[in-house]
Amino acid sequence: MRQAGFQVDVNPTISSRQLRKIVSNYDALIVRSRTKVTKEIIEAGKRLRAIGRAGTGLDNIDVETVEKKGIMVFNVPEAGTNAVAELTIGLIISLARSIPLADRSMKEGKWIKKELMGWELRDKTLGIVGLGNVGERVARMAKTLGMKILITKRTPPAPELLRELEAEFVLLQELLQRSDAVTIHVPLTPQTKQMISAQEIRLMKKGALLINTSRGAIVNEKALLDALKSGKLGGAALDVYEIEPPKDLSVIRLPNVICTPHIGAQTERTYRMTAISIAEKIVNAFT
Ligand code: MLT
Repeated sequence: MRQAGFQVDVNPTISSRQLRKIVSNYDALIVRSRTKVTKEIIEAGKRLRAIGRAGTGLDNIDVETVEKKGIMVFNVPEAGTNAVAELTIGLIISLARSIPLADRSMKEGKWIKKELMGWELRDKTLGIVGLGNVGERVARMAKTLGMKILITKRTPPAPELLRELEAEFVLLQELLQRSDAVTIHVPLTPQTKQMISAQEIRLMKKGALLINTSRGAIVNEKALLDALKSGKLGGAALDVYEIEPPKDLSVIRLPNVICTPHIGAQTERTYRMTAISIAEKIVNAFT
């Protein structure tokens, strides 16, 4: 951006209060997910003409206010696709084979081979909720692992895509009833908030796995805690939380839960692609 003649200030640890104080000096703002671009910040940014989200989800930006003010918003939905999909598959395998527990026990000098009976992904049914970039990439990877794939989304996918993925399109209810593992790949919106609550978990198979690498608030954490404690769910893998970093560790501490600190898109390749793409989008918007 500097090469393109922009004056750029970088402040990766800025607080909301500090940002609100200085945002009026800027024509453009680029954020990742830590910074919440609230109504107050947008209104304080009298000169703002563009907001860049260096990542996919726009849930940390008050898009309604941005649109009302005629400010342009850009994100980079393509860069993290492969990284998030790979982490998702890694988490499913880790859950199915108890890899973190096996590693922990070895480090503690234990040999708990008999207790670590796993299950293979081949011929198991994977339910994919949402078929955007990441959902589709996960489907392609799961297909090569020999999994049966069920997909649910608001509108039916193109029949050619379903054929290519060897996947079946079903309603959420049926997907929950038939899947051995369910993975969530929808953005956080008022419609998807708490989309997987007690009622939905009740429909899932006993012992099924739940994987969430999209946004924490899509799953009701209390319902998840109850289902994991009662044995209704066999395990869960979470990369995202309603509050990040999470304050309540009740779900995280359960032995049948694997957790990572929102690292889905945390790879060098994704970072480089995201940085270049968002810089180009903002530069193009102004020139
Ligand atoms: C994204 O939306 O790009 C990912 O969740 C990564 C992030 O926000 O940290």
